[in-house]
Amino acid sequence: MPTLILTAKDVKELIDMPEVIEVVEKAFADWANGKAAMPPKAYVQVERGDFRAMPAAIPGGAGLKWVNVHPDNPSRNLPTVMAILIYNDPSTGYPLAIMDATELTAYRTGAAAAVASKYLARRDSRTLGLIGAGRQAHTQLMAHLSLFDLQEVRAYDRSPAATDRLIKAFPKTRIRAASLADAAESDIVCTVTPAHEPVLMKEHVRPGTHVNAIGADAAGKEELDPSILNNAVVVVDEIVQASRSGEINVPVSKGLFKVESIFATLGDIVSGKKVFERRPSAVTVFDSTGVAIEDVATAKLIYERARAEERYHAVDMVEA
Ligand SMILES: NC(=O)c1ccc[n+]([C@@H]2O[C@H](COP(=O)([O-])OP(=O)(O)OC[C@H]3O[C@@H](n4cnc5c(N)ncnc54)[C@H](O)[C@@H]3O)[C@@H](O)[C@H]2O)c1
Repeated sequence: MPTLILTAKDVKELIDMPEVIEVVEKAFADWANGKAAMPPKAYVQVERGDFRAMPAAIPGGAGLKWVNVHPDNPSRNLPTVMAILIYNDPSTGYPLAIMDATELTAYRTGAAAAVASKYLARRDSRTLGLIGAGRQAHTQLMAHLSLFDLQEVRAYDRSPAATDRLIKAFPKTRIRAASLADAAESDIVCTVTPAHEPVLMKEHVRPGTHVNAIGADAAGKEELDPSILNNAVVVVDEIVQASRSGEINVPVSKGLFKVESIFATLGDIVSGKKVFERRPSAVTVFDSTGVAIEDVATAKLIYERARAEERYHAVDMVEA
């Protein structure tokens, strides 16, 4: 049996945001119900960035993503985040596919945030604020457009060129460049910067706002004023990962936020194990570090579509 080789171009042609949202939501429920396996991701630090190894098994699929984060890369005309994923048959271990997972990462990150917004944000949310307008902001927007009837999107980035690129990429969406305070005055706010100190401050956040804190995914990174967390319902994707490398990692290390104050994991909410009844004025925060079940669920989708549509290159990787 051949191993499929799926390039970035192949993956871009095969991936579809509404489907990714569906499988990511299911992966969180499966995991909460004990049907998936996932150790916390392992980090390898290097001078200009870091690498992460992210393995997981879900019903019908297993895999490992090897991904970097190098914040200076845009100045070298390279993406900050690039990834390769090995996708295996869990029953035999056979390597079914090796695929570029750069686009997959951006899609599943957007999808996870949109799933969090579906369960935590006000149902009548009509405005989206993007703080940071780089690569991940594009898929945050795409995912939220799939689930919400957005009347306006406000984008803030310290680089006006990044905001311009985002606006040009969504010609049919009502999206405009905004100040930080203006973007933060939205029903749903996604923070997607590589910041190491708070960008979004308590005074920016109105009652009733849902915040997806996406950018902090390694120790020392933080985008939110810790006092936002202390007055919010905080949901994380994975407790150990979030405490070590998510939005809460710096406040936890400084004693400004307690792990016990986490309300639930997203899996607990999606599976119904923990019920969240939103008060209209509550502020909710989803702390996303990015988990391997999201990657493997998306890889399974891409692999199955590639096979069904016979759109792939293949190699005999293993000598049977
Ligand atoms: N949670 C997850 O699952 C997940 C997944 C992928 C990436 N990430 C993280 O998301 C962050 C963004 O990734 P990306 O691929 O979009 O990077 P990117 O370099 O493409 O975009 C980041 C943008 O943030 C802007 N920015 C930086 N500091 C800012 C500040 N203080 N205020 C306003 N804007 C600022 C930059 O100008 C840039 O446009 C990174 O920290 C990355 O590690 C998280």
